[in-house]
Amino acid sequence: MRTVRVDPLDPDPVQIAEAASIIRGGGLVAFPTETVYGLGGNALDPDAVRRIYAAKGRPSYNPLIVHCANTEAARSLALEWPREAETLATRYWPGPLTIVVRKSEKILPEVTAGLPTVALRVPVHPVAAALLAASAVPIAAPSANRFSELSPTTAEHVAKSLEKQIDLLLDGGPAHVGIESTVVDLSGPEPVLLRPGSIELAQLETAIGRPLQIPETYAETAPRPSPGMTHRHYSPTATLIVVPGDMSTFLAVSEPHRAKGRKIAALLRHLAAVPGIDRNVRMPSDADDYARKLYATLHELDDDGFDLILVEAPPKGGAWAAVSDRLARASTSA
Ligand code: TXA
Ligand code: MG
Repeated sequence: MRTVRVDPLDPDPVQIAEAASIIRGGGLVAFPTETVYGLGGNALDPDAVRRIYAAKGRPSYNPLIVHCANTEAARSLALEWPREAETLATRYWPGPLTIVVRKSEKILPEVTAGLPTVALRVPVHPVAAALLAASAVPIAAPSANRFSELSPTTAEHVAKSLEKQIDLLLDGGPAHVGIESTVVDLSGPEPVLLRPGSIELAQLETAIGRPLQIPETYAETAPRPSPGMTHRHYSPTATLIVVPGDMSTFLAVSEPHRAKGRKIAALLRHLAAVPGIDRNVRMPSDADDYARKLYATLHELDDDGFDLILVEAPPKGGAWAAVSDRLARASTSA
């Protein structure tokens, strides 16, 4: 794999043209988006799509998100484009929102795992936008990590996980949002929030003027309308436990692990440092800042060989819904 540094704000057209020609030739390019890094291939090329699944080690029942240069390009891949899709696209595209609609025949069954629907997203990151424009094809791109591993928010994270499977890695620095896009399903009679993200439930409900359905828990098992709902997805190698309570709970949870000599870290927002463990990490008290830092922190703790990560439970709902969801998935007890 070759890695090329690109200016995240003003990517060099020559570098982008090279990446685009790899996409058009059926190759795989990892690239930054505002959420996490994507592993991209031509969504209209069945061999490229198969290479994406193989590279990730991803089960073929998990459909891919198709990235488009603009709303018009996205609309052309939908069989039906509901009024609410237009409303959300106008409001949030380009940006960290994925919209699921009924698919047109142009979308191959390989991309959607045989589902009659397709997930569409128009990213705002200048590198992703430039790559889509130069490629002139929609780009299927899951997060650029092996299946069930943590999503990558830097090029280093991508290289660590997928070094051999990618033709080119565009390094545009750290992803700004830091967690995956909000996914809304508009293919049925009721809108459904399939995956919480930085665009919040309340914002979406205000935009479309009616409530969204919410699956009982995003982390439930089959049948899965959404691969992000797979149990133990987005997981670090270390065991992660969300600790609901105060310092005494932290001590009670950590003590048996300490006794076994485990290497323990704590991610804290308000609590004081936990005594007797190996590392206390201070996390932001703002939800968006926390999300931006979350995966990078977990990647770092994995690299440093931690066995156990204890996390001060975040507040419920609202701006914290996406963070809570990713922590629940990353934890063994979720
Ligand atoms: O932020 C993101 O969305 C990143 C960047 C690279 O754009 N991509 C990403 O892709 O997270 P991936 O493949 O790791 O996650 C796939 C998500 C699933 O969780 C699911 O919600 C949705 O895409 N999905 C794809 N096709 C779907 C479909 N036909 N029906 C329902 N959900 C679908
Ligand atoms: Mg993923």
